[in-house]
Amino acid sequence: MSNYHIKHLEEYWQVYRKSVRNPENFWEEIAEEHFLWRKRWDKVLSWDFSKPEIKWFEGARLNITENCLDRHLAVRADKTAILFEPNDPAKEAEHISYRQLHERVCRFANVLADQGVEKGDRVCIYLPMIPELAVSLLACARLGAVHSVVFAGFSATALATRINDCDCKTVICSDGSYRGKKTIDLKTIVDQALEECPGVETSLVVKRTGGEVTMKEGRDQWLQPLLDAADARREATIVDAEDPLFVLYTSGSTGKPKGMVHTTGGYMVYTAYTFKNAFQYRENDVYWCTADIGWITGHSYIVYGPLANGATTVMFEGVPSYPDYGRFWEIVEKHKVTQFYTAPTAIRALAKENLDYVNQHDLSSLKVLGTVGEPINEEAWHWYNENVGKKNSPIIDTWWQTETGGIMISPIPYSTPTIPTFATLPMPGVQPVLFDENGKEIKGNSVEGRLAIKFPWPSIARTIYGNHERYRETYFSAYPGTYFTGDGALRDAVGYYRITGRVDDVIIVSGHNLGTAPIEDAINEHPAVAESAIVGYPHDIKGNALYGYVTLKETGESRDQDNLRKEINQLITDRIGPIAKLQKIQFTTGLPKTRSGKIMRRILRKIAGKDTSNLGDISTLLNPEVVQNIMDESLA
Ligand code: WT7
Repeated sequence: MSNYHIKHLEEYWQVYRKSVRNPENFWEEIAEEHFLWRKRWDKVLSWDFSKPEIKWFEGARLNITENCLDRHLAVRADKTAILFEPNDPAKEAEHISYRQLHERVCRFANVLADQGVEKGDRVCIYLPMIPELAVSLLACARLGAVHSVVFAGFSATALATRINDCDCKTVICSDGSYRGKKTIDLKTIVDQALEECPGVETSLVVKRTGGEVTMKEGRDQWLQPLLDAADARREATIVDAEDPLFVLYTSGSTGKPKGMVHTTGGYMVYTAYTFKNAFQYRENDVYWCTADIGWITGHSYIVYGPLANGATTVMFEGVPSYPDYGRFWEIVEKHKVTQFYTAPTAIRALAKENLDYVNQHDLSSLKVLGTVGEPINEEAWHWYNENVGKKNSPIIDTWWQTETGGIMISPIPYSTPTIPTFATLPMPGVQPVLFDENGKEIKGNSVEGRLAIKFPWPSIARTIYGNHERYRETYFSAYPGTYFTGDGALRDAVGYYRITGRVDDVIIVSGHNLGTAPIEDAINEHPAVAESAIVGYPHDIKGNALYGYVTLKETGESRDQDNLRKEINQLITDRIGPIAKLQKIQFTTGLPKTRSGKIMRRILRKIAGKDTSNLGDISTLLNPEVVQNIMDESLA
């Protein structure tokens, strides 16, 4: 257990220095001690960030589900693996033991195999937060099939794009989902999507709401009867450490979503290691991450990281506001949750409500509080610390990305002294560097720049599905020899990192990563729209909200602006999903552009954020006069 569990700051530094001095040795020791490999690796690491090519534990053979399930059966078969808390608080929580989870995964894997799913095939999963979601990821992994989970809040068009991009032949979905008071008809969305997906042969449908659905003959099948008929055992398909485990889409600043490909061995080692250390996980803990498994946070820290450690992981189907704003705290009290991991946007939303919602509940089981997804503002940090943690539970502000697979910069609770808004120190094995705008590395402390990582860690994504060149260009070309994160950061006097936000055209809204280009594309589909530009501006709860500047085609006709706004947001909802809707839409006569025709978002961002004191030199613009117009007409 030597370097697996860090217990104080001095030990952190010892471990960190060791991890940087000899990363291969460091990760090899962890991989050797804590996992089940069917064959040992020939080489710990080979890498070349210029190609880029990264291989961890090359030659090793394993199955991640043997690590997450089978090996626990000897020691904790009856321990709860997944604690499912349904949307309806009147319904019983479901405790799924490791033995039961193992059986459910085996049955599901057998069903998939019967449907012709083989090692390497991509399977799309579009499910709400119900146990079948976790089971289906693991069932794919059992077969060596590659799961591609699409968050069940995405629209039919967004789903279809993702299914087609990685050629899924099989889709797993449900009739519907519960979210608070609402019931959502997911199957209809899937049906619409599949009209655009000629490659899909089979869809397996979980019955959740019992709502009416149309089942397409020869394509759609109810899952439960197939599971009932399936064998409860299934041998795991042994794969190479570098075989893909999953694809997960994230938005880019341009073009279509990027299918980040994560592989098996390194991802397993890194998520397990960081789960144990960042949350200081102990055997009898009850760990709860409130994310959706449709995002990387759920993949790594609801499913794989916790299960690889034999932990009890809570899965919550509902929303923080139902039946009232005390729901999170009620669940913490009821299940005696020890680690609680959520997003700043959720904290800000709950902090607006009456404190009684928190104070009515006994939160004394909590030992560690986590946040992820966007910078946490100071006010939210203090609210979380005082009211939830009672100043007794360290807050870990964990910085990472879909691409990094696991937590990269985070305090180690009870070891690293925390400071509000600082993600603090890199996890062992992570080597951050800062660059200035000219691509020069900024050394020393008390500096600010663009954040890159100069050495591979085991769970870095290996490519973008079907587009390795885009992977190279997006992450490895800005600062050659390093992985560029897209974030800005500062390093303070003692070397703590604070993430200052995206430096590209990605906007984080309520912790969701949104690219401006796909949203602008959706808006521009409107027949009345000539051109548009999206920027983010500060918002109390969402962190950022979207502000759209839209110029209309000159037709001479007058149009009802409120209707247009509705139609534009409807288009965005259809093409991407409601999470990408614009908070404000300003119709303008033009957009400020450089002489080469590039939209000056910097100026638009300042106007949207009501920070117009220093717009910089606008005289070199192609159309400086529009800036004044936009300011005059800007929305209150
Ligand atoms: C972007 C990645 C990692 C899972 C959820 C988001 C921002 C994430 C923090 C944090 C400041 C953060 C960054 C990053 N971000 N965590 N603790 N402090 N910013 O994954 O959708 O891939 O988004 O989220 O800007 O680049 P993602």
